[in-house]
Amino acid sequence: MDAQPSLPTDDRLPKAELHVHLEGTATPTLVRRLAARNGMSLPEGLFSADGRFLWTGFLHFLRAYDDAASAIRTEEDYRDVTREYLGHCAAEGAIYVEVMASPDHAALAGLSFEAHLAGVASGIEDARAAHGIEARIIVTCVRHFGPERAIELARACARNPHPLLTGFGMGGDENRHSAAAFAPAFRIAREEAGLGCTAHAGEAAGPDSVRDVLDHLPVSRIGHGVRASEDPALLDRLAAAGTVLEVCPTSNLRTGVYPDAAAHPLNRLRDAGCAVTLNSDDPPYFGTTIGGEYAFARAGFGWTEAALLAATRTALEGAFLDEPARGRLLARLPEAP
Ligand code: ADE
Ligand code: ZN
Repeated sequence: MDAQPSLPTDDRLPKAELHVHLEGTATPTLVRRLAARNGMSLPEGLFSADGRFLWTGFLHFLRAYDDAASAIRTEEDYRDVTREYLGHCAAEGAIYVEVMASPDHAALAGLSFEAHLAGVASGIEDARAAHGIEARIIVTCVRHFGPERAIELARACARNPHPLLTGFGMGGDENRHSAAAFAPAFRIAREEAGLGCTAHAGEAAGPDSVRDVLDHLPVSRIGHGVRASEDPALLDRLAAAGTVLEVCPTSNLRTGVYPDAAAHPLNRLRDAGCAVTLNSDDPPYFGTTIGGEYAFARAGFGWTEAALLAATRTALEGAFLDEPARGRLLARLPEAP
């Protein structure tokens, strides 16, 4: 990856990642390569002088993300982005990754739902053959694109069943639209397409946003969820329900949710009995990787090897997987001490 984590990673420890945006895995080098291959110029100001993605603040980050994603235009591009990312993950010891893929971004580049899905799926198959890593796809709607687009996306999932498409999610600007507005889309995704569901909440907004998602959407997981830590009753609810939190510590520091590890609630969430996992979110934007997040949990939060393995186990238990595949992956973990 272009931006390597500064902490040494333990590449032998088995890892699993539930929360990474596929378009957000493409490094500046790959984005430039795809733009050149597609004969397109990228928007001014996308990169800093030293070749990183350039953004300040959360909304600017989302815009930079959309601009960079516009270089991913063809089925082959999606295959390459997926294959390259999963190869990096496998080299760091990841045995399982769920990629959030956004057909709405692909559609902006003129690519159909079917071609986008086929590209991502072939990247997964290539990576499995090359590295033995397993992966699944979460089709992800974008909150600031609005509820109508989300419904269209859920319907497309129901019309296009695919063995690697197992989840439906929602990212984007959490402060736009209520979660309830997306209930029809999530109902279709859950009941008609049979997908596991997750939604970003408690990242750019507070505990009310997490409660809004839990009250209105059929989710078993929350993307981030960290600001639930401000509400003890909500923590109890998350712990009792076993809702899996897809925590992305470095992302939260880089987007300014918390100033440093000491202020980040990762350990408080775990101590409250919540099911926590470790995730990279948008690795090159935040200068991290999945291995970097495990290394950060150890160095910045005092996690032992047993705690890191427990996070992998929690991720596999909460993964949107059929039971035989889940069992095969769990069997690759060492016994808990
Ligand atoms: N899309 C890509 N990364 C995101 C994030 N961290 N939060 C919300 N939407 C996103
Ligand atoms: Zn995210």
